[in-house]
Amino acid sequence: EPSDPDLVARARAAKEKLGEKVFVLGHHYQRDEVIQFADVTGDSFKLARDAAARPEAEYIVFCGVHFMAESADILTSARQRVILPDLAAGCSMADMASAEQVAECWDVLTEAGVAEQVVPVSYMNSSADIKAFTGRHGGTICTSSNAKRALEWAFAQGEKVLFLPDQHLGRNTAVRDMGMSLDDCVVYNPHKPNGGLTTEQLRAAKMILWRGHCSVHGRFSLDSVNEVRERIPGVRVLVHPECKHEVVSAADEVGSTEYIIKALDAAPAGSKWAIGTELNLVRRLAKAHPDKEIVFLDRTVCFCSTMNRIDLPHLVWTLESLAEGKVVNRIEVDAETEFFAKAALERMLALP
Ligand code: 13P
Ligand code: SF4
Repeated sequence: EPSDPDLVARARAAKEKLGEKVFVLGHHYQRDEVIQFADVTGDSFKLARDAAARPEAEYIVFCGVHFMAESADILTSARQRVILPDLAAGCSMADMASAEQVAECWDVLTEAGVAEQVVPVSYMNSSADIKAFTGRHGGTICTSSNAKRALEWAFAQGEKVLFLPDQHLGRNTAVRDMGMSLDDCVVYNPHKPNGGLTTEQLRAAKMILWRGHCSVHGRFSLDSVNEVRERIPGVRVLVHPECKHEVVSAADEVGSTEYIIKALDAAPAGSKWAIGTELNLVRRLAKAHPDKEIVFLDRTVCFCSTMNRIDLPHLVWTLESLAEGKVVNRIEVDAETEFFAKAALERMLALP
């Protein structure tokens, strides 16, 4: 659907007025109407680095979700202000691990006598509180593009990893990339006493996976992979590692959003692809590659509803407010949380 020309003109005018003062970041899952105003686009890893590389921008407008804006605030200087055009753009996965629940989990691990062997590895898709917990306990952050390197680093520090909050990325990386077995993994359920695990299970496990998942990627099923293979002979199935293990196992290729984009850029004309990731990105890729057949892996799966909250009206309101000198929707992490979260993020940025 084309964007409202009046809103496009207003966004353009406000952005022009702000000039170098503003830097707009757009995650790949954002709407086209928003992406057209992004100074850079990327996956969560690239955007974290891009935010840190813009010290001259007074305002960082983050078109993505809350945890990404928090990470940008942590990685930018105190002078810079990070803005999320709609404060309701959260992430259901990040919400699956609260600071209290994670502190309780650490008590369970301590009581089982395993905490000393555990290195926390937290997915970027987590709140600043969880990142701070990770930093306090000597762990690292990871994204879907460096999860393997993060786990290699973590297993060089300790015998066990507490991976949170996405059980699927944790399991897929451990089994696909690290040669572990499914039996090496246990799932910690924060809604059950002791995480629903016995002391023996905690002692035997190498990967303790937090029971969280992405409400978009978690919905792709093995049936959809089988169905698309039947419907489109010769199709290559390419999915994001936030998908369930059975989906990832049945796919031809697995990778982060940046990986998916590069794989399709490199694919020969006439090739056929079924993509298991967010719909805005898949539609954009299909449009960008008219010489290839690119379909969405499962037609019953939808957009990420919170990513989609950032729309052109919110962006216009944000840019016009900033152009008038009014700072709206600032995301600010408190100093203590920032200190420890930054330690964990910097460890990630320093991974080989
Ligand atoms: P990446 O941007 O790291 O591929 O993660 C996907 C995602 O779900 C972001 O919310
Ligand atoms: Fe969160 Fe999934 Fe949406 Fe990413 S796609 S913001 S992980 S709910």
